[in-house]
Amino acid sequence: MSGWKKRQNSYRKPDHFTKMAKSEGYMARSVYKLEAIEERAHMLRGGAKVVDLGCFPGSWSQLALERIGPKGRLVGVDLKAPEVIGAHWIPRSIYEVQSGELIEALGGLADVVLSDMAPNTTGTRDGDHYAQADLARRALEVARMVLRPGGGFICKIFEGEEASGLQAAANLAFKRVKRMRPDAVRKESREWFLVCWDLKSSAQLVPEAVPVAPEEPPAPAPGPTRQDRSEAEESGKRRAPVFDVDEW
Ligand SMILES: C[S@@+](CC[C@H](N)C(=O)[O-])C[C@H]1O[C@@H](n2cnc3c(N)ncnc32)[C@H](O)[C@@H]1O
Repeated sequence: MSGWKKRQNSYRKPDHFTKMAKSEGYMARSVYKLEAIEERAHMLRGGAKVVDLGCFPGSWSQLALERIGPKGRLVGVDLKAPEVIGAHWIPRSIYEVQSGELIEALGGLADVVLSDMAPNTTGTRDGDHYAQADLARRALEVARMVLRPGGGFICKIFEGEEASGLQAAANLAFKRVKRMRPDAVRKESREWFLVCWDLKSSAQLVPEAVPVAPEEPPAPAPGPTRQDRSEAEESGKRRAPVFDVDEW
């Protein structure tokens, strides 16, 4: 059996973390990756403003919402919205979301940006790695646009050629960066997480502007009413054909 087939088979098996997620009411077993990271990261504090990139089906958001409490705020981005209440969901690709929209939805700069984004894996080791590295690169860019100075960033990375470049970029932007691989990561997986504390103010980027909705064209001047028409017909002054909705 090929390595990829073996991996797919083991992903289908409900392991200890899958069963625990089900019994504890979380949408996915990946919640235990964030929980383990948070034991050391301590980023999700009461009242924090959080952005969760790649939030579907919602287990990281569920944990984050529990930790930040009612005074916190969470905005999640994914191709579809999780069925979890208490957050603001943006059901679009991160490449189509402007960072200004995230700041607007949060009501200010973020304290924490989470990214568990991953493409649909194809089994092509390099292709999956490059696609995931692009998502991680975009997550880092968004983090630098939406985080306050001092904010934190947790980001999934697939091991491969691009990984050390991504870590070097994070090292430049944050005061402290560590790699973590929680126990809940399946042993066949090449994923690990960059955990970054304290965004340097010199690394902040200007947020992308929220697109302005195009102005409504002015409403056309109202046409003559039936009454006008019959009056015009009566007086013999009708010059142009008149239509109304009943006649189209
Ligand atoms: C491992 S799952 C995230 C699991 C989630 N953290 C949880 O705990 O429920 C990876 C997610 O990344 C999302 N994703 C992939 N490409 C994306 C993109 N361009 N923009 C936003 N999300 C994307 C996928 O749709 C998928 O839901």
